[in-house]
Amino acid sequence: MELTMAQASVTKRYRFCAAHRLHTDYLSSEDNRAAFGKCNNPNGHGHNYVVLVTVKSGVQTSTGGEMDLDRLDRTVGQQVITRFDHHDLNQDPEFAERTTTGENLVLLIWDLLVKCLPSGQLKKVGLIETRDNYFEYAGGIKNGEC
Ligand code: NI
Repeated sequence: MELTMAQASVTKRYRFCAAHRLHTDYLSSEDNRAAFGKCNNPNGHGHNYVVLVTVKSGVQTSTGGEMDLDRLDRTVGQQVITRFDHHDLNQDPEFAERTTTGENLVLLIWDLLVKCLPSGQLKKVGLIETRDNYFEYAGGIKNGEC
């Protein structure tokens, strides 16, 4: 039996480009403009998003690590990149009732990944939206179909 000597973590970086507009039907046009400023522009705008996915990886004596990074790449590709890359986030069904803020997006990415990775493996999801804006979320285990 292989001994796991220590617990480390691995963070992988992924990218996608997407359009969005910050807007909520719960506010008037005027209040939307006040709340979101230029991000409420009716024509929307785009970001080159960077997603940082951190997973646990046990350090093993023989291989040096136990994390299956190919599986992680496939999961992020299928669940996140294919879904959002070159899409309008406002058209995504999960954003029908929610504003496409970085906070909501990083929560959604967590939910999309956690149900498709081995239980307890996902530690944190980070989302860089602009040079100066970084969002981060570490939620709980969420059951659901992958
Ligand atoms: Ni934006």
